[in-house]
Order: sequence, then C-alpha cells, then structure tokens
Amino acid sequence: MDKFVVRGGNPLLGTIKVSGAKNSALPCMAAAILTEDEVILENIPQVHDIETERKLLTSMGAEVELGYGRAQHRTSIQCAILSDPVAKYEIVKTMRASSLVLGPLIARTGIARVAMPGGCAIGGRPIDLHIKGLEAMGATITQDHGYLEARTDRLKGAHIVFDKITVTGTEDLLMAATLAEGETLFENCAREPEVTDLAALLIAMGAKIEGAGTGTIRVQGVAKLHGARHKINPDRIEAGTFLLAGAITGGDLNIDCCEPEHLGSLIAKLEQCGVRIDVGKDNIRVRSGGDLKASDISTEEYPGFPTDMQAQFMALATQAEGTTTVTENIFENRFMHVQELIRMGANITVSGRTATIRGKTPLQSAAVMCSDLRASASLVLAALVADGESILDRVYHMDRGYERLEEKLRGVGAQIRRMGDVFSKR
Ligand code: UD1
Repeated sequence: MDKFVVRGGNPLLGTIKVSGAKNSALPCMAAAILTEDEVILENIPQVHDIETERKLLTSMGAEVELGYGRAQHRTSIQCAILSDPVAKYEIVKTMRASSLVLGPLIARTGIARVAMPGGCAIGGRPIDLHIKGLEAMGATITQDHGYLEARTDRLKGAHIVFDKITVTGTEDLLMAATLAEGETLFENCAREPEVTDLAALLIAMGAKIEGAGTGTIRVQGVAKLHGARHKINPDRIEAGTFLLAGAITGGDLNIDCCEPEHLGSLIAKLEQCGVRIDVGKDNIRVRSGGDLKASDISTEEYPGFPTDMQAQFMALATQAEGTTTVTENIFENRFMHVQELIRMGANITVSGRTATIRGKTPLQSAAVMCSDLRASASLVLAALVADGESILDRVYHMDRGYERLEEKLRGVGAQIRRMGDVFSKR
C-alpha cells in the first residue's frame, strides 16, 4: 500500500491546474448505457474510480477506450450490446457510485441487476430513493442474495418528489426518465453542478430536459438517444482543496482551469477567515499571510457549503485564531479525520454532528491513517503545515478521486512524495 511522506513548512507558490470532476465523469460514463452509439467524454480525470467505472461498463459488454496524456483525458464508450446488465458486487463494493448504472440499465434494456451497496466509512448511504423513484416509473424491484433486480417493459413518466435531496439519486432517475414513456416531473432535486453537467450531456444525446440545476426538473421521454461528445466540468472539490492548501500554508497560489462560480460558498467563507481571493474567468488566486480567523461552517446541499470540503476546512480551522464549529448535516459519520488531526496536535471535540475546533494550535508531524477520500485530503493539508515529516498511510483512498495530487502539490513547492510499501514488496 502506498504512503505519502510530507514535510511541512513550505508556503505554496505558483500555478496549479484542476482536473475534470470525478463526480461528473461517473454519471456521464453511466449515461453512455442509454445509447448504442458512441459517447465521447473529454477532461476525464485520471483517478481510480474512473478505472472502476470502466471495468463496470466493460463487464456488462460495453467497449470502453480510456486514454490519458496525449489522448487528452478522453474516453470513448460504446454500449452497442449490453450482454450482461449486471453490476457485480466485486465492483460495487469498491465504488458506491456504481448504483448510478441502475437507472440507465433498466431504461435501456428493461432489466438491471445491481449489487446492493453496503455501508461505508462516512455512513449508511442507502439507495432507497433510487428504488422508490424507479417503482413510481413502473419498475418492479426485487432483492435476492445481496442483489437488487429491476424489471419493466418500458418505464413510464411519473411525478417524483424526493423525500431528501440526493445527488446520485437525482442523476440516476434523470437518466432513467430520458427514455421513459411520457413526462417525468422531479421535485426537490439536487442542484449540484454535476447534475447540470450530466443534463448537458443527455441533452446533447437527444434528451428533452428542462430545469437541471434547479429543484424542479421536467423530462419528456424519447424513444431513443444518440451518441454525443461532451467535456466534463472542472472538479470543484479538487479546486477547493487547492484553495485551502494555498490558504493554510500562507501561500500565493493561482488555481487554474477551474469554474469559480461553483465555489461561491467556499470563497465567501475563506474571505471571512481573512484570506485574500481574486476571482478570474477560469482561475482563482488565493493569498494568505497565515493570519487566519475562525469562521463556522455548516454543510448543506449545493449551493451551500459542500460536505466534500468539510474535512479539509477542519484542517484549516486548526490554524485559525479562535473557535470554529463545524456542523455536518449530510452524512452521519463524517468525522473520521478528527482523531488523526488530534494525533497531530489539533484541539477538537465532537458532539453529535458538531465538531468544535480551538485554534490556533501548532501541528506536529505524525504517522496517520487515511480513512476516506476527503479525510485523506484533510490530512495532507494538516501535514503541509506540521512541524517535521508526516507519513500518511492508505493513500489509495486519495487516488480514488485526486489526480496525481502529490505531483501537482510538488509543482507549487510542497515537499511530498509517494512511497511504496517496503514491507509488502519483500
Ligand atoms: C454524492 C457525491 C459525494 C457527496 C454527496 C453529497 C458522487 C459520486 N458522490 O454522493 O461525493 O459527498 O453527493 O454531496 O457524486 N440518501 C438516502 N437515500 C438515498 C440516497 C441518499 O437517504 O436513496 C441520503 C444519504 O444517506 C445522505 C444524503 O441522502 O445522507 C445525501 O446523499 P447523496 O446526495 O445521495 O450522496 P451521493 O449521491 O451518494
């Protein structure tokens, strides 16, 4: 298992580039199931979850080409024949977003068999709202041996009001509705930019969708979708992580190839913390003298403060003068990074969904364990300002969603390197 070795103390200086959004690329790849034609996606991030999705689609009979480097992060997917419309447990267990294939599979083939995702580090993550929506569209759903099977002759348009806002739930059912008979009206939808990105691809494929990016989406089902070419949005969570890296290290960082509009709540929060931010068309400059002030956050659905930035913000809060409260409203168990930050010298107490961080505390280097994707990023940020050399174990969590993070950070002055596990190589 790879580790990161990080020596803290350097302010980050220069320009760092943002990759395509993993959370847009995953549903867009699943959308290729909806047509027998070729779908070409550009700006695909080179991260492990994308490789998992490639495996998932290939196992169903799709042809997937995935090229990086000179091929410019492009994937071409053709689902001419879906010989095996099954999302197997071996794949689903490593990536919960695999449930995104449920809607497109049943819409295209009339049958979908998808392994039920289990729990994960940040909470239960059920898919009951996906199931409820498909049932409202006329699918019959049964469960056996840990699998969920959905069947229908053809999905029918329905009026679906989400009990709770769900990002992949909105995406899954949106894809299903494109090929349903008649109109589907969705209410209380997720408004995340990733939903809008997916809708843009679906519209390019011939879908009739209005209102993506708002709480109400209306879809007129069509009989067939065709191929399309689409460029994936920049990753707002990677961009946000770099913003915090610039701020926490007292650096001067230009975050390039990003979409500043998608980062409104984080930018406003950083300004309250005393960080200087200059927003360009597709770049953000972040400057900080290191004198950060405490400011509370409470995670919410977009456009509120993203849960996927909560762990990284907590690392920043350890370096802010005063007391910060961080309230996690989206997932029930998303404080796995707290114990590791405490081991590095942070003063944090947790009560239910709220963490209280008393700053500013000097952080010390330590051997720490990454527990999930964003928790790992939080530990990298802490290590960048810790005194001495930290070792971060289980960086495979990071590789699921950050493209070459250590190389990108090294390019702006961080002392970070990857180390293979010497013991497992013996
Ligand atoms: C997506 C993102 C993830 C992000 C999260 C919240 C992807 C691949 N992942 O995850 O990075 O942290 O949005 O912004 O895009 N819920 C139910 N029933 C359901 C579905 C969800 O109760 O059927 C609950 C969840 O347990 C959670 C809340 O709804 O408490 C939000 O979850 P959801 O928006 O669905 O998260 P994901 O789409 O899995």
